[in-house]
Amino acid sequence: MDSFLIKGGVPLHGEVTISGSKNAALPIMAATLLTDEPCVIRRVPDLSDTRFMVKILESLGATARFADGTLTIRAKKIRGYADYELVRKMRGSICIAGPLLARLKQARVSLPGGCIIGARPINLHLKGFAALGAKIEIAGGYVEASAKRLIGASVFLGGRAGPTVLGTANVMMAATLGEGVTIIESAACEPEVVDLANFLNAMGARITGAGSPTITITGVAKLHGAEHEVIADRIEAATFLIAAGATNGEVTLKGARPEHLRAVIDKLNEAGVAVERRGANLVGRRKGKLKSADITTLPYAGFPTDVQAQMMSLLTLAPGISIITERIFEARFMHVSELARLGADIEIEGPSAIVKGGRPLSGAPVMASDLRASAALVIAGLAAKGATQVNRIYHLDRGYERMDLKLQKLGARIERIEEK
Ligand code: EPU
Repeated sequence: MDSFLIKGGVPLHGEVTISGSKNAALPIMAATLLTDEPCVIRRVPDLSDTRFMVKILESLGATARFADGTLTIRAKKIRGYADYELVRKMRGSICIAGPLLARLKQARVSLPGGCIIGARPINLHLKGFAALGAKIEIAGGYVEASAKRLIGASVFLGGRAGPTVLGTANVMMAATLGEGVTIIESAACEPEVVDLANFLNAMGARITGAGSPTITITGVAKLHGAEHEVIADRIEAATFLIAAGATNGEVTLKGARPEHLRAVIDKLNEAGVAVERRGANLVGRRKGKLKSADITTLPYAGFPTDVQAQMMSLLTLAPGISIITERIFEARFMHVSELARLGADIEIEGPSAIVKGGRPLSGAPVMASDLRASAALVIAGLAAKGATQVNRIYHLDRGYERMDLKLQKLGARIERIEEK
């Protein structure tokens, strides 16, 4: 298992190009199952998760070519069941269910288990499929959805933690080839849902309202091939802005979309990190001393749960008390004990982490537990004095494209230690 060795204390300076969004790319890749014609998707980040999705699509019968960020894929003839182990390994792969159900009227996928950040049920996805007329059966670790016809319906997809991103994607995709009009209420408003809707519309779907809580899908008989460029990864952009603030540096982001980062930029400003537009670029830099800030994660356009861990690393450096409340995933504080190894003072009280910030961090060996926790540990390591070894970096490779190389270009002393 590879690890990163970071020698901290170097302010980051320079330019970094933001990759395509992982969480937009995964459902868009799944959407190519909706047509037997070829699709071309550009700016697909080269990550273990996207490569894994290619494997899943190939296992269903698609032929794919993935090179230089462009995925050319054709799902000419496909089958409706996915390999148990493949789907189980990556939770994001649940979004193949909607397209399979739409195109074949049958989908059988393994039930995604819980994961380190929380329970992660799919009851809302299934509620949506059932509303369209699918019969749902759960047996032997699989969920099977089947229907003679999918018929448009009105479905409320709000859950205990608000809307569901992949649930909205799944039901939206299932409804594209249904008969009549489907209305999703309490739909997720994330930019990744909008990007998917744009791709589906380019394929001939009739979707309006994506980006708002009410999405209307008018079913069509057939979808065709399309070309699309995936939006910039707002979580990667946020991670680099935070790293600039944490190391007292100045980083210019190329290709980021500031309009997708409003909540993050607002909190960074409050915490003493200035973020400003310079032409088409976005620049993040420390503005005086860091300050404590309170954060609550919320569905879009609120502060994203996927940036909570990285922001916690920054706030450990800010004098005073910051309260970080996690409202989306109940167990997403695995990074707290690892940050403590670097000297951070953080206590967990129910859904909140109380950060007593301002103590300098010092390097130590730490263990990455999930994707965003890994990014938080890298940021903390970059800001800490001395050497930090972040183990189990495969979590980070799932969602950040060549992060070590991008950081090296910004002057960070970081190297990948490959375990043979
Ligand atoms: N939920 C339910 N029932 C469902 C589905 C979700 O109760 O049927 C709950 C979840 O347990 C959670 C909340 O609803 O409490 C929100 O979960 P959501 O369904 O929105 O999460 P997701 O779609 O499975 C995507 C991203 C996550 C990101 C979340 C929230 C992908 C591949 N994953 O997951 O990304 O944290 O939305 O924004 O798009 C990451 O990239 O590190 C990551 C975990």
